[in-house]
Amino acid sequence: MSNYKSILLENDIFRLVSDVAHQLEVDCFVIGGFVRDLVLNRPSKDIDIVCLGSGIELALAVSNAHPDKPQVTVFKNFGTAMLKIGDWEVEFIGARKESYNVNSRKPTVENGTLEDDQNRRDFTINALAINLSKKNFGEILDPFGGLEDIKKKIIRTPLDPDITFSDDPLRMMRALRFSAQLDFDIEPSTFESIKKNNERISIVSGERIADELNKIILAPKPSYGFKLLLGSELLHLIFPEMVALLGVETRDGKSHKDNFYHTLQVLDNVALKSNDLWLRWAAILHDIAKPPTKRFHPKVGFTFHGHEDLGARMVPEIFRKLKLPLNEKMKAVQKLVRIHLRPIALVKEEVTDSAVRRLLFDAGEDIESLMILCRADVTSKNETKVKKYLANFDRVEEKLKEIEGKDKVRNFQPAVTGEAIMEIFSLAPGKEVGELKIRLREAILDGEISNDFEEGIAFLKKITG
Ligand code: CTP
Repeated sequence: MSNYKSILLENDIFRLVSDVAHQLEVDCFVIGGFVRDLVLNRPSKDIDIVCLGSGIELALAVSNAHPDKPQVTVFKNFGTAMLKIGDWEVEFIGARKESYNVNSRKPTVENGTLEDDQNRRDFTINALAINLSKKNFGEILDPFGGLEDIKKKIIRTPLDPDITFSDDPLRMMRALRFSAQLDFDIEPSTFESIKKNNERISIVSGERIADELNKIILAPKPSYGFKLLLGSELLHLIFPEMVALLGVETRDGKSHKDNFYHTLQVLDNVALKSNDLWLRWAAILHDIAKPPTKRFHPKVGFTFHGHEDLGARMVPEIFRKLKLPLNEKMKAVQKLVRIHLRPIALVKEEVTDSAVRRLLFDAGEDIESLMILCRADVTSKNETKVKKYLANFDRVEEKLKEIEGKDKVRNFQPAVTGEAIMEIFSLAPGKEVGELKIRLREAILDGEISNDFEEGIAFLKKITG
């Protein structure tokens, strides 16, 4: 216990809150995620303080006592107040007792005791509190065995899980998210309850679901969270296109791989190389159109021709349904899905300069991401094959570097601009200028001419006769 005292005292905020609460004669506690992360030794900048009284009054008094007099943001409707002190975000709230309505995530709230407040929390590991009152400063209050669950790496609800999840169904996603982030197991009756109550996810807003899903995807080993999503059948409800990847079909002794587990392996492989959420989404979606493009040919077995194009076309609708942004991030994911087979196609033939130039042009800024995805996509169990593929990608990457060094096509800017074309050929802005620009770009990408002003003009003069 004393070690939490000394850790808390390293941060002046806790001493200040304790002093001010003493003057106001209110008991207060640091609670929830901050305590969990303190025990887990994970750095956290969000501090939740619960007091047996008015959180807003305590926040105002703390600000007043602080030399910088930090601004207090008051959320009157919620009875909470927030202070930013340096990098720290400190939220103050009065202890509450909540009762929930079946059709909404918004509870009716009354003042309560610390126990009431701990009861209403989602998991035992999130219900831990540390006393900040002068007399018992640093004392940990752990009514549900949260410390033991941290030790055993278990996610468990403090109350009957059916009550906790029915109170707030977002917690089903949070359970999976904490398991994935912390590499914890979900206690069996808690998991059973998620399975049983999964349809209640329908009352949660898509944005909140997307936040949790993205946190699962950003976990060190995201496949774990997806396996829990699948097992709880929450995935069927929030992202059915991914469930459609599941399963193996065999016909005439010919089968295809299980595209769900392949996708998870690609995702884990990408996660080892990059923390970019959108590259991880590209991994999740790279084969998403395999089910609708699957065909069986007696001679070759199963094929998925065009899955990269159809997959790219499916991306906007999937992003829209999942409340993911419909902006340039979505476009980048779409592009990676569309071109994810290009580097493989490249190594099959002789790697020509113009093919490499086209790939650089099409991938643009995302060429490194594309190569990470392609390497991650090699999931064969046959080691010789894997070695061969990866060596081929080494060759492609060397070639990419060489061509980029020479031709700078990655951020392609033609030496001959539209304005120059209009001036030299006395053209008004319009379709014709656009067509000439495309002809010029194609000639440069094909290596017919280099990206040089004089050569470009000579080429345009030649083709316009
Ligand atoms: N909480 C809850 N039910 C929710 C959301 C939050 O019981 N649906 C409680 C938990 O006690 C949680 C605390 O409110 O610890 C703070 O929630 P939040 O800031 O969302 O999450 P953290 O647990 O702090 O974790 P993270 O910062 O990783 O989201």
